[in-house]
Amino acid sequence: MNRRHLIKNLTLSLGAGVIAQKAISSGIDPNVLHYSIPSNPAHKPFDKPVTAITLGAGNRGNVYGGFAAAYPGQLKIVGVAEPVPFRNNRYAKIHHIPDNNRFNTWEDVFARPKFADAIIITTPDNLHYGPCIKALQMGYDILLEKPISPTEKECRDILALAKKTGRIVAVCHVLRYAPYFVKMKELIAAGAIGRVISVQHLEPIEHTHMAHSYVRGNWHNSKQTTPILLAKSCHDLDIIKWVVNKPSKEIIAMGDLQWFKKENAPEGSTNRCTDGCKVERTCPYSAIREYVEDGRRNKALDIPDDAVDKKAVILERLKTTNYGRCVYRMDNDQPDHYITNIRFEGGITASMSMEAFTSYAGRRTRVFGAMGDMTGDMEELVVTDFRTGKQMKYKPVAEDVEGYKNSGHGGGDWRLAADFVQAVAQQDAKILTSTIDESIESHLMGFMAEKSRQTKMITTIKV
Ligand SMILES: NC(=O)c1ccc[n+]([C@@H]2O[C@H](COP(=O)([O-])OP(=O)(O)OC[C@H]3O[C@@H](n4cnc5c(N)ncnc54)[C@H](O)[C@@H]3O)[C@@H](O)[C@H]2O)c1
Repeated sequence: MNRRHLIKNLTLSLGAGVIAQKAISSGIDPNVLHYSIPSNPAHKPFDKPVTAITLGAGNRGNVYGGFAAAYPGQLKIVGVAEPVPFRNNRYAKIHHIPDNNRFNTWEDVFARPKFADAIIITTPDNLHYGPCIKALQMGYDILLEKPISPTEKECRDILALAKKTGRIVAVCHVLRYAPYFVKMKELIAAGAIGRVISVQHLEPIEHTHMAHSYVRGNWHNSKQTTPILLAKSCHDLDIIKWVVNKPSKEIIAMGDLQWFKKENAPEGSTNRCTDGCKVERTCPYSAIREYVEDGRRNKALDIPDDAVDKKAVILERLKTTNYGRCVYRMDNDQPDHYITNIRFEGGITASMSMEAFTSYAGRRTRVFGAMGDMTGDMEELVVTDFRTGKQMKYKPVAEDVEGYKNSGHGGGDWRLAADFVQAVAQQDAKILTSTIDESIESHLMGFMAEKSRQTKMITTIKV
């Protein structure tokens, strides 16, 4: 660096230091905007809570159940169908569900005349279609977990019946309700970065989450459940489509299963981590490390609250369920890396990567516009305006996501629930941003991406 550059750089950094010092002394960073998402003006006070029956009292059934427990004036759970007795009992207890409204399986619910306003479908992916069609036929409004259904035909059938019956079907594309993505969409629509030219989006699954859900867990087999792109990343396709706000036209995808296969099993490894595996202590995917020591994902193991020796229960689960099996010896087939390129109307392009091998989670998005760019990590959005050279960081105010934040997906889970109960109470689907009409296109993008991955061809998206 020559002397002139050195002096200029020193002056700039000293200048920046003075500005930063002033901002720090006043306690306000002028380059950080703490935003608040205004409450939905369409929301109205409730005369009585919306009533709902939950089908599937597992992880997601409890997320929406949690909303009912926190806001009893808005949502009351009056029935449950769940074949696992431990889950059925726990749910019935939390929501004071009478015995005659507790069922083993979703079919039993529809053997009775309609007895609630809405059905919450949180059953496994391959059990969405049956209950959704039946609920529509019987006049229920529906909160439907994603994916809508594992096949294109079934998704289209549900859409057609929803239109015919006029019932509300809210698809749980929860990211559309997270303040972070709401802000991203709002800024783009307001022209903060000019015309959008392209998008780059990363879904870092996190290596241990991959092992838990897509190697050992519920979604390890794409044929029995849903291809990973729809199971994990229909949210990503949906959010890209939502912020770009143009119809998608073409898609191309690549990716496969590279690592979690028998040929990569280390020497000395065993069928289960508890079988005396010689490399267990150094394996990043060790079930003992994940469930006995870390415990972040133990909900899936159904540990009774009153278990005296929780560790013994966990070890027993590792010996008897898939959660204790070696990640290299599962009957899994989901790709562990997956790239997708999309072309939208007007030539806007997006590239999306879904990656298993990351040490972190939290979607990363960069949006490139003609007048600026935007980059974010689900916590903070940084917008740079090419016209002024100014950079602004956007962060949601704490109180805006308080309470809702614990609901997951950056506050999106319960914000969706809040809009859903309003939509049902007022019989107005427009209160929702993820109705089935709005959500179908991103599912079609997923099906066409899978087709492209398998046929090695660019596929066309026709809604
Ligand atoms: N929106 C999101 O971000 C998000 C996140 C995770 C999962 N999901 C989706 O939510 C759905 C549920 O996932 P989960 O993680 O809660 O799984 P889960 O396994 O924890 O819960 C599903 C429950 O359905 C029950 N069930 C099985 N057969 C049934 C039947 N015949 N009748 C009634 N209940 C039955 C199971 O016993 C289980 O308790 C899946 O479709 C999944 O893809 C969505």
